[in-house]
Amino acid sequence: MRPAARLAGLSLVFSLVPPGRSMEVTVPTTLNALNGSDARLACTFNSCYTVNHKQFSLNWTYQECGNCSEEMFLQFRMKIINLKLERFRDRVEFSGNPSKYDVSVTLKHVQLEDEGFYNCYVMNPPDRHRGHGRIYLNVLLEEPPERDSTVAVIVGASVGGLLAVVILVLVVVKCVRRRKEQRLSSDDLKTEDEGKTEGEGHPEDGAK
Ligand SMILES: *[C@@H]1O[C@H](CO)[C@@H](O)[C@H](O)[C@H]1NC(C)=O
Ligand SMILES: *[C@@H]1O[C@H](CO)[C@@H](O)[C@H](O)[C@H]1NC(C)=O
Ligand SMILES: *[C@@H]1O[C@H](CO)[C@@H](O)[C@H](O)[C@H]1NC(C)=O
Repeated sequence: MRPAARLAGLSLVFSLVPPGRSMEVTVPTTLNALNGSDARLACTFNSCYTVNHKQFSLNWTYQECGNCSEEMFLQFRMKIINLKLERFRDRVEFSGNPSKYDVSVTLKHVQLEDEGFYNCYVMNPPDRHRGHGRIYLNVLLEEPPERDSTVAVIVGASVGGLLAVVILVLVVVKCVRRRKEQRLSSDDLKTEDEGKTEGEGHPEDGAK
């Protein structure tokens, strides 16, 4: 996975258009991308119909602010039409597959000025409803510290989990050995002495 994709994964909070009324479009509500990296603006949809390229319609628009006008930068009408807006030039690349209900685009070499809202509109006739997903692209100048702490938490949890397993295995091994020893010692009629000496150092073993 590319770093941008990994970053995206962290803030991947899916927003679903309420089902029933319109087509279900799945996008991350916020996407964090490092300045200079490539950001994949993921947009997928559900449809009861297979995609007919003659009727399928897709529009991607950019909005600099929440109520700014929408600038269309990519369309699908029979085929992909990259409108090569001045602000993006050659940096927009279609990275989806309409047949697989994926209409994602990749914005290369993300710049600070790319921050804003990205709208993905899809229409898949005979589905009569138009689907809409909206992504906020947040451009970061350096890797966020949360990422490190998240990794730390994951590593910590893994190490913790591993330790727990090791401890469990040790306890089980000890118990098995203990039982074996007890069997041996009970043969020698020395059960009580064995139990006392072993029990002292390990109070948690008392229950076993
Ligand atoms: C963003 O990255 C570009 C190189 O991709 C660099 O030239 C520019 O200075 C960076 N901007 C900031 C604000 O760091
Ligand atoms: C649009 O945003 C501007 C600030 O950028 C604000 O002053 C204005 O009231 C907003 N208009 C609407 C209709 O929300
Ligand atoms: C895309 O925009 C065109 C106008 O340029 C419009 O006719 C079409 O219905 C739009 N498609 C979607 C899915 O919004």
